[in-house]
Amino acid sequence: MESVEHPCPECGADNPETNRYCGSCGAALAAPAIERRKLATLVFCDVAGSTALGDRTDPEAVRELMLSYFTVAREVLERHGGTVEKFVGDAVMAAFGVPVVHEDDALRACRAALEIQARLSARMPLRIGVNSGEVVTGDATRRETFATGDAVNVAARLEQAAGPGEVLIGEPTLALVRDVVHVEAVEPLRLKGKSEPQPAFRLLAVGGATTRSATPLIGRLGELTLLERELQAVIADGGCGLATVLGEPGVGKSRLAAELIERVGPRARVVQGRCLSYGEGITYWAVAEVVRELTGIRDDDSAEQVRTRLNTFCARLSDGDAVADQVSTLLGAGGGATTAEELSWALRRFLAAAARDTPLVVVVDDIHWAESALLELLARLPQALTDAPVLVVCLSRPELLDRDPGWPVTVRLEPLAATEVDSLLECLDAPASMRVRIAQAADGNPLFAEELVGWVDAGGDLAEMPTGLHALLGARLDQLNQTARDALERGAIEGEIFHFDAVVELSDERARPLVPAALDELTRREMVGLTAADLAGSMVAYRFKHILVRDAAYAATAKRLRASLHERFADWVERRAGDRLAEFEEIVGYHLEQAHRYQSELGAADPELAGRAAARLAAAGRRALWRGDERAAANLLERSLTLSRPFGLDVMLELDLSQALSTDPARAMAVAEAAAIRAAAATDETGAALAHAVATQHGLQCSVNSLDDLETSVRAARPLVEANGDDAALATLFWLIGPAVANIRGRYEEWTSAAERGLEHTQRAGHQQRGGDRFRIATALAVGPRPADEALRTLDSWLANTHEPWAYLRRAELLAMLERFDEAWLAAGQSRELFRERGAEWGDYALAVVAALEGDHDTACRHWQLVCDWLEATSQNAFLASHAALLGLELCRLGRLEEAEACARRSRALGDADDLVTQGLWREATALVESHRGDHVEAERLAREALGYLQRTDSLAFQGGALRDLAETLLAAGRAEEAAAAFGQALDAYERKRVLPLARHIRERLMTLEPVGR
Ligand SMILES: Nc1ncnc2c1ncn2[C@@H]1O[C@H](COP(=O)(O)OP(=O)(O)OP(=O)(O)O)[C@@H](O)[C@H]1O
Ligand SMILES: [Mg+2]
Repeated sequence: MESVEHPCPECGADNPETNRYCGSCGAALAAPAIERRKLATLVFCDVAGSTALGDRTDPEAVRELMLSYFTVAREVLERHGGTVEKFVGDAVMAAFGVPVVHEDDALRACRAALEIQARLSARMPLRIGVNSGEVVTGDATRRETFATGDAVNVAARLEQAAGPGEVLIGEPTLALVRDVVHVEAVEPLRLKGKSEPQPAFRLLAVGGATTRSATPLIGRLGELTLLERELQAVIADGGCGLATVLGEPGVGKSRLAAELIERVGPRARVVQGRCLSYGEGITYWAVAEVVRELTGIRDDDSAEQVRTRLNTFCARLSDGDAVADQVSTLLGAGGGATTAEELSWALRRFLAAAARDTPLVVVVDDIHWAESALLELLARLPQALTDAPVLVVCLSRPELLDRDPGWPVTVRLEPLAATEVDSLLECLDAPASMRVRIAQAADGNPLFAEELVGWVDAGGDLAEMPTGLHALLGARLDQLNQTARDALERGAIEGEIFHFDAVVELSDERARPLVPAALDELTRREMVGLTAADLAGSMVAYRFKHILVRDAAYAATAKRLRASLHERFADWVERRAGDRLAEFEEIVGYHLEQAHRYQSELGAADPELAGRAAARLAAAGRRALWRGDERAAANLLERSLTLSRPFGLDVMLELDLSQALSTDPARAMAVAEAAAIRAAAATDETGAALAHAVATQHGLQCSVNSLDDLETSVRAARPLVEANGDDAALATLFWLIGPAVANIRGRYEEWTSAAERGLEHTQRAGHQQRGGDRFRIATALAVGPRPADEALRTLDSWLANTHEPWAYLRRAELLAMLERFDEAWLAAGQSRELFRERGAEWGDYALAVVAALEGDHDTACRHWQLVCDWLEATSQNAFLASHAALLGLELCRLGRLEEAEACARRSRALGDADDLVTQGLWREATALVESHRGDHVEAERLAREALGYLQRTDSLAFQGGALRDLAETLLAAGRAEEAAAAFGQALDAYERKRVLPLARHIRERLMTLEPVGR
């Protein structure tokens, strides 16, 4: 066990890890154990029927056998990089990835398992189970390696299910090694404590190199050209060239080399070797692979055969015997000792021999894992080998430069460009809806892109990490020193972008001085980079080079630590924000929410923390609601209430949520009704009455309730709310009285005054809600009896600088009434944009109205149809009722009678009996249809009924329309004089409202009538 120095928090003196108190000042040294979550692969190995073994064999022989079993198992497991955790009876458990993660842990475990079987199965029957998954471990630096987790249990069960001599692996392991192993599926295992059978696979063999992909090469033409040029130079000059491709894991180094090899064709012979990330005595592994390939040595050749092949190959050299001697040592086939110098010489000669007839390309992959001796050998080749055309192509990750900063780099492989990633995703047939998110997460890294597509294809959630990436990134994290790792984890708590000050704040007192160096280290390793700070008062910020690195660092942090860091971060932001807290409330709320979430998951929920989180999210949610951002509001308020509901009821907040959900009236109603029930149970009569009224209002929107229901519930709530005097509640009450009730009753002046009072209470409640949003004063003004020019002036003065879509919509309508069509179209277009941002399609109504007033009924119909489709799709039946009738009227103007009639019927079917406007409009539309068809009696009857309904409202525009259409039906019936009278009344209404285009239209109609009328 290596000793780890621990600085004393008091005096800074270094102490051996075993000290509990500082040797110089006596201060306590004990640091809390750091738990980590990581991906590990577990190996369980046991002797099948060891009792039976004991019965049959002499005890001494058994003891010897068992000892050699333990020795071999430990030796093999450790050589492959595993940590043997315990011997329980005859069982051996080992973990790969603990304490340090390697990206190929699963493969190592499989190799080790097979090797143990190969070496021992002839002597004793062994069962082995291998499984991978997330485990929780102790502190790696303190060599605490205890791993717990579901994956451990499944590994043990796989072992129990394996037959003698067998290795069974679980599905998560197979996913990690799929490309390089041969397996056969066995019966899925029914395991205790698991409802689903667990797939299991018999491991047969571990194969050769990974072949990851079959997609065509994307981009990289420049890099290929560069490498080709190196090859040309080698061929032309006859000497040795060394070309190194450097790049991040997965960026495509091996792929680029593969493409180069394809293109070499008959110009040269290509051989490949790769360095391994682990093991002993494998300094020259890559070179040995090259030698084997060049001489045709096979795995099942005997030492004798190896030697023969080497001799044959080297025979063409004058000093062939000596070369063959040395090289066979390298392959482990010769017994003699040798030096690095001699080996170097021998290999140069060997390569020269290989390149004598044809130029040679040697690809050495992953040289960042090479031992120094191999690196030196490679580096010296260009000078030392001048008489043979050999191009050595080395592939390496950037960490090579940590060890050897002067290593010559030929090509630095950068991430793929955005358009190239698009092409790659196209080739990979990634689901179209996910491409943007995958491209974002992959950030130019083709391996990440492939893994993410594979993950999504297999039904994985993009929010969680694909297992393969988990291993890769986990390995990179485990290479970091403790301070860098801590800093990275603290940054990950804040998010993809994090601030220097935040890392300092979240670090333990004694680690704070080390933060700058830690962040430098992370920058050097290209895990993070500097970026613009965006938190008040912070100067320096970093961004994770890869969001996946952030996610991996976060996922590796124990939940307990996550909880406390999130809370500390929230506290810190709060403190720093000072009087600008409102800006950061969402962030603070989020972090408190996360802290609470992890506490709850650990069974240690703290109501006070939940309350704080809820309060922040509520404040942020209300602000979103007030600025008309209903989707954000719904999200924030829902989260706030989820946190606070277990501890109490906040009726007004529940009603705010229901308001935020108003485009989904069924859900909005459910929220309000539930609040009403809970308020009643808590004997909050006022809250219950108001919530019930709000629920009824949403119920009206989806035809669950009638207008009478609503008016009754509002009347019941009103005295209670008024007596109570709560401004927020009063504002809601007047919202119900105005836009909800008076609106449908057609009492537009009442609506206007309710809106005014509602606004007053809104202001007094300290809410910043703009009146237009909630009280729709703009609508009351446009539809109500005030003249268009006056209404427009009022609207503009009240709603100056607003971005409220209803204001734009009604402005468009009023402007069109005043024949200011250019401005009207502009306002209508703006309203559509603003509504769409809010997920609503009312903007088409504005366009329809302007088109209709301009006389373009085709366009008007098109837009009205869109409005109706949207209302239909979102079950806003009350609105659909009146708008279907309006569409019907427009269709009549085009003579599209069948469709008009269908609309009128739909309106009639959906229209509430008390909805005067709807009742009037569908009759008006039907009257026109009947009149066109020649049923003048029915037409007149309906037209007069329509007028009756609309005259009970105070809307001059609706009355003008009803009078005009009555006039048309009378005219069609040949009763010109009565028609003229009705036209005259219509003209009067339109002139009073100042609907100029329609007033003019009617004047023209009257002119054509004049001679007839006389
Ligand atoms: N330009 C490219 N076009 C298409 N696919 C690519 C491209 N570059 C890489 N890939 C694919 O991305 C995956 C990762 O590439 P590759 O294995 O070459 O990365 P690497 O840089 O060698 O990584 P490591 O450092 O882990 O060895 C492979 O499946 C490869 O086929
Ligand atoms: Mg590679």
